[in-house]
Amino acid sequence: MSAGHPISYFDQVQEAVSFLRNKLGTFKPRVGMVLGSGLGDAVEGIEDPVFIPYSGIPHFPESTVEGHSGRIVAGHMGGSPVLLMQGRVHFYEGYTPWQVTFPMRVLGAMGIGAVVLTNAAGAISPDYRLGELVLITDHINMMGWNPLVGPNEPRFAVRPGAGLRFFDMTEPYSPWIRGLARDIASTEGFDLSEGVYIAVSGPSFETPAEIRAYRALGATLVGMSTVPETIVARHMGMEVLAISCVTNQAAGLSPTPLSHDEVFKTGQLVRSRLRRLLQQLAPGITSLLEANL
Ligand code: HPA
Repeated sequence: MSAGHPISYFDQVQEAVSFLRNKLGTFKPRVGMVLGSGLGDAVEGIEDPVFIPYSGIPHFPESTVEGHSGRIVAGHMGGSPVLLMQGRVHFYEGYTPWQVTFPMRVLGAMGIGAVVLTNAAGAISPDYRLGELVLITDHINMMGWNPLVGPNEPRFAVRPGAGLRFFDMTEPYSPWIRGLARDIASTEGFDLSEGVYIAVSGPSFETPAEIRAYRALGATLVGMSTVPETIVARHMGMEVLAISCVTNQAAGLSPTPLSHDEVFKTGQLVRSRLRRLLQQLAPGITSLLEANL
C-alpha cells in the first residue's frame, strides 16, 4: 500500500486470507458456518478448536452486539473440518454493506464451497412455535441496499461461471443441502419447517403495520441479517443453507412488547437441536461437495 492509495477491497480480503492461512496451516475446510444472536453455543462440541478473534484479523469488522462474541473457530464437526464464525456484524451497527459481507468474501477465498447461515428471527406466520428451527427457502431484501452495488469484482468467484455482474437468484438456498437438513432432522426426531425470510435494516423492531405489509408480501420470518451474506455467497458461487431460529412473534402478534433479551433467551433454548443439526450437516455437506466436484 502506498500513501494516498488505499488498498483495494479485493486486496484487503487477500490480506485477511493470508493471515488466516498462516494461523491454520494445512487445515482445509470446505464448509463455513455463521452463528447468529444467542446461537453461538452451537460451537460446543467442536473438536480441536482453534480460536481466532476477529480483532486480530486484518480488515475484519468486529461485532458490537451482546450475544455475538466475535471470533472464528476452526475445528472439526462430526469429523469434518469447518470454519465457524461465532458472531457477525450488522448494517445497523453502522457498518457499510461491504464490511458486513467482508467475512463471506474471506470464507470464499479460503476455499469454502458452502456456508450455513443461522439467525434469530421473528415469526410473521402464526404457524411457527417459539424456539422452532426453520429452513429459509427464499428471501425478500427489504434492507434498501445490495452489497454488490459498486464495480463488479469477478476475481471473487470460487467456481467457473460465478462472479458475474448480473446473476441468477432463482435458487438462493441450495435445494440439495435443504434436503440433507430435512433428512437429519427427521432422523433426530424434530420438525424443520420452511419459510420466506424478509431482511430489514433495523435496529428498531418493526411496527404492526409493517409486519402486516410484510405478511402480504409473502414473508413468514423477519430479521436483520443473512440476506446480504447470501447475495455475496451466491455471487461467488458458494452454496448456501440458512436456518432461522424463531425467537419471538413479530410485532403486533404477541401481547407483550419485543426485547433483545427475549430474542437472546429463546435462542439459547434451541442450542442442543441446532448443535445436533450442524454437527451432522458438516460431514454431509462436505461429502456432497466432494461428490459434485
Ligand atoms: N424483527 C427483526 N429482527 C428480529 C426479530 C424481529 O422480530 N427477532 C429476531 N430478530
